Amino acid sequence: MKNHEAFLTRLYQEYEAKYPRSRVAHQEARRVLIDGVSHGARLFEPFPFRITAACGPWVRELGGAEIIDYWQGHYANILGHNPPLIVEALQAELARGFGLQTGLPDEGQTALAALLAQATGAEKVRLTTSGTLATMYAIMLARAFTGRDVVLKVGGGWHGANPLALKGVARTQAGFTAVDSTGISKSADQEILVTRFNDVEALEEVFRRRGEEIACFIFEPCPGGGGFIPATKAFMRAARDLTQRYGALLILDEVITGFRYCASGVQKLYGVQADLTTFGKIIGGGMPVSAVAGRADVMERASESAPRRVWFNGGTFAAHPLSMRAGLAMLEYLIANEGAIYPALAAKGDGLRRGIERVFADRGILARCTGADAEALPAGSSLGWVNFPLREDTPLTAPEDITDPSLCDVTLREKALKIGLLLEGVNVVHGLGAISTEHTEGTLARTLEAYDAFAKRLRAEG
Ligand SMILES: Cc1ncc(COP(=O)(O)O)c(C=O)c1O
Repeated sequence: MKNHEAFLTRLYQEYEAKYPRSRVAHQEARRVLIDGVSHGARLFEPFPFRITAACGPWVRELGGAEIIDYWQGHYANILGHNPPLIVEALQAELARGFGLQTGLPDEGQTALAALLAQATGAEKVRLTTSGTLATMYAIMLARAFTGRDVVLKVGGGWHGANPLALKGVARTQAGFTAVDSTGISKSADQEILVTRFNDVEALEEVFRRRGEEIACFIFEPCPGGGGFIPATKAFMRAARDLTQRYGALLILDEVITGFRYCASGVQKLYGVQADLTTFGKIIGGGMPVSAVAGRADVMERASESAPRRVWFNGGTFAAHPLSMRAGLAMLEYLIANEGAIYPALAAKGDGLRRGIERVFADRGILARCTGADAEALPAGSSLGWVNFPLREDTPLTAPEDITDPSLCDVTLREKALKIGLLLEGVNVVHGLGAISTEHTEGTLARTLEAYDAFAKRLRAEG
């Protein structure tokens, strides 16, 4: 494994010189905010840049630099930053004197739930405010419905900081095996089982051994913290069959994938229907909205009238009127324009991933983008990671592969490429991120120039 220390030091020095106002602002922020941020994913070395404006594909850094952004609101902003469609809908709502929380039922929440149910085939929906809460409630529902405690998830799977699934998120020396957080129940280690993504044999084995205890199997169809590698068709099929056979529930966490590949859950493209699905990000149109959607008999456990009900009940700001308005505007637009939006997004994604591999190859550097799988998702994908495998034949099929420093140069992806591209005015996460409809051909071409500048620099490092 190559040591990048000297290279990183130089990159960090240049970054500090390029974004001095953000450096000062970060120091200020650290006085009051833990680590100077409100989410660990927004923190990186030497300090995160801070912004004053965001529009379409770009954000403006404190010092005025415009940065092309592939983080796009934790991948929520499929129409780019602050799309006029949503902004105008919110302005209209406020102009009519409605929009801040009332705590009373209104028609916006019925309309959003109905649209979501119709688009996804769910029988019942409950709305809440974050993906973390949605996955927590979904697991509570599954436990109550099955009368079992064990939660099965995949290594590298992220379901928010939900204490019922906070194991095997971060990689340790031993792999994806540890409980990730202190402060949660000591029973988490026994109650959460972790299996390898896209490994049908391992999945069959864990169900053979523990199937009668498993309340649910929860996973992301394309794990956001695991390379956006799509589940193989065989893995998705096995997940559906095994949960059914053993009386467990299948929860698909579509917080990222929902409305990202089509105007529904990506499960539709797999031809699978989960028992429960969690949605978030895109469905809020940039506002805090999430949902659990699925089978009526399971969802009804949350009803006041259910015996021994599930208290899926927090949420002063659940179904916030402005959030409903934004979510409705977003879903209506995506549904009405599905045929134009998704093929174009996927084509941009496929072109960009191919282009990135090419610019590195042209400089003699092996780079492999993950995020697509023509067999599992022939329609393509607008998400991606950039990986630097140590060998041409390194398999990149699961989070275990791309986070393993003995298989891929993780420091190069997570640290050097991140800062190297920011020096060129491009913000990526895990080497790339999410493409929005506002990333024009010109933006993508400019992005490839940035990757090429970094590749050139890396080559010169020897
Ligand atoms: C797949 C998945 N599930 C759940 C969550 C948690 O959502 P939130 O950050 O809205 O709590 C995320 C957030 O990144 C996610 O990617």
